[in-house]
Amino acid sequence: MTISELQKEYRDALSPIYGDGEAKSITKLVLEKELELNPTHLTFERFRILTQPQIHNLRTILERLLKHEPVQYILGEADFYGLKFKVNSSVLIPRPETEELVEWAIVQANGGKGVGLSILDIGTGTGCIPIALSKTLSLASIAACDISEEALAVARENNECNAAQVKFFELDILNELLPANGYDLIVSNPPYIGQNERGNLEAHVLDFEPHLALFVPGEDVLIFYKAIAKKALTALKNDGVLLFEINAAKGAEVVNLLRDLNYKDIELRKDLSGKDRMVKAIK
Ligand SMILES: C[S@@+](CC[C@H](N)C(=O)[O-])C[C@H]1O[C@@H](n2cnc3c(N)ncnc32)[C@H](O)[C@@H]1O
Repeated sequence: MTISELQKEYRDALSPIYGDGEAKSITKLVLEKELELNPTHLTFERFRILTQPQIHNLRTILERLLKHEPVQYILGEADFYGLKFKVNSSVLIPRPETEELVEWAIVQANGGKGVGLSILDIGTGTGCIPIALSKTLSLASIAACDISEEALAVARENNECNAAQVKFFELDILNELLPANGYDLIVSNPPYIGQNERGNLEAHVLDFEPHLALFVPGEDVLIFYKAIAKKALTALKNDGVLLFEINAAKGAEVVNLLRDLNYKDIELRKDLSGKDRMVKAIK
């Protein structure tokens, strides 16, 4: 069997589930990684005969894809902000809209390399936010925390692979205080899905992504925003910036809770698909 024939097998099997475009890009990702080919070689070598172990491995991967397992978990890596991040079942797969949050954070840091700035990311998962920030704001002091030891292990590995300088620590933001560091910027993409919204999630999210990263404990979907916004009032410097990624349906509520806590210059922003996705506020 040639690479080209296997490519067709993948696309025919995946298109009914993922659509033609997505099936094509998943196939490309898998073949490039598993056959260690760059995009140009994949085209030139399409008539190369695959070995039996290669065919077996690629068909095993196809079976997992057909069970809706995200390709990033199968390959163990995801792209974010032009960088590669290791992922496993303990961490959320970084999303494109979070890249927009990183962009906004960089603008808030006033461009430059972030000389003298102190930044904290809460609920860091793969470490995608602080590591992406660290690559641009190379002179800022950047820290990140998570409740999950397993997630922190992945984040530390990503920090090393990407030669970034983030300091990670374990913290339960709902039950512990933030270090009184005088941060210039606190950023967070916390869990924001209610237990009652489980039914709205697609299988590739609900069955594979860590529930600790997706769901709030209990009924209050804003519990993390309330806890972080309150604790940030003592952890931020005066005029320090708080930046949240939010559930698209909760923009007005997050804005109101920040207003009630006397934050100023509150701004709600949409993501590229036109959904309310980010909120900024100044202490
Ligand atoms: C929506 S994920 C965001 C991950 C990553 N920042 C991103 O944007 O891809 C939320 C993260 O919050 C962490 N988390 C959940 N409960 C927490 C808590 N009580 N304190 C701190 N972190 C928590 C989860 O482990 C998860 O990594």
